[in-house]
Amino acid sequence: MIYTAQAPSNIALIKYMGKLDFEENIPTNSSLSFSLPHFVTQVNLELSTEQSDSWEPLKKENFLNPELSLSGQQRFLKHLQRMKLHFDVQENFKVSSASNFSSDCGLASSASSFAALTLCCEKAFRQMGYTPRDLTSMNRLSRKGSGSSCRSFFEPWSLWSGLEAHSIELPYHDMVHEIVFLDSQKKQVSSGEAHRRVFTSPNFQGRVERAEQRLNQLIESFLSQNWKMAYELVLNEFKDMHQLFETSQPAFSYRTETSQAVTDFVEKFWNQENDGPLVTMDAGPNIHLLFRKDQSAIKEKLMAQLHVRFGL
Ligand code: DP6
Repeated sequence: MIYTAQAPSNIALIKYMGKLDFEENIPTNSSLSFSLPHFVTQVNLELSTEQSDSWEPLKKENFLNPELSLSGQQRFLKHLQRMKLHFDVQENFKVSSASNFSSDCGLASSASSFAALTLCCEKAFRQMGYTPRDLTSMNRLSRKGSGSSCRSFFEPWSLWSGLEAHSIELPYHDMVHEIVFLDSQKKQVSSGEAHRRVFTSPNFQGRVERAEQRLNQLIESFLSQNWKMAYELVLNEFKDMHQLFETSQPAFSYRTETSQAVTDFVEKFWNQENDGPLVTMDAGPNIHLLFRKDQSAIKEKLMAQLHVRFGL
């Protein structure tokens, strides 16, 4: 019997960066994300007769199956252990997983993989007749595996504060997501390490207040459908996070010359057109653009210009 589940990735517009608790992934500030249903991870669980749980890549058409590093596998299996404990499960499993997008390059693969693992465990263990120890929500458990995964339980908008995420009703349900894909190289500094290093930045002072204030303003701008204000807030937020990285000790950066040039280009485009997409970057050099559904003309114009200017 093979149990299977899929979960989407999500892109944060207000970022989770910095933790109050590194064991439990308690964030220093709230974050807001939009789900990316076209970027998914699938997890399969199969009962095993081995003495311990194991992981292997899942072979599936149109899915990539990169080898997880040993520490990546251990982290994944630790979360399986946590889920087993929650359901008092004794059996061992063979876990396999794959995503339909590149991992570790700022496309938030840990969010979808940990959410999919949590969901798959819940499904498998319940079908096997187990019940959970208590009423702790699945997103709260998933958060302990990887923080951003707790936001992947809600679509399209998810708001995470403190111990758990929940759904939030905002306009723009059907935004169109485009990635300016510049690099699929694995990142040199993991997001786990980034969460530690940001505390060494002088800019961390006031960061929590800035993020919380921006979150409130962003929700306000979405509710009043002030798209330009939303763009400015989202832009300032991702720059704020990247400046934390670049002023940490030791400093590091996910921005490359090209990613900087592309975001500058999109800003100029906005200034000329007084319109454009929301722009953000996660812990990687790739750039996420979000267009409203009714912006197809402006989307085509920008994507064509990016193609000419950067050969993208
Ligand atoms: C930059 O969720 O990957 O993508 O809790 O250590 O697994 P862990 O961190 P992770 O951090 C994601 C950071 C980010 C911003 C965000 O998604 O909010």
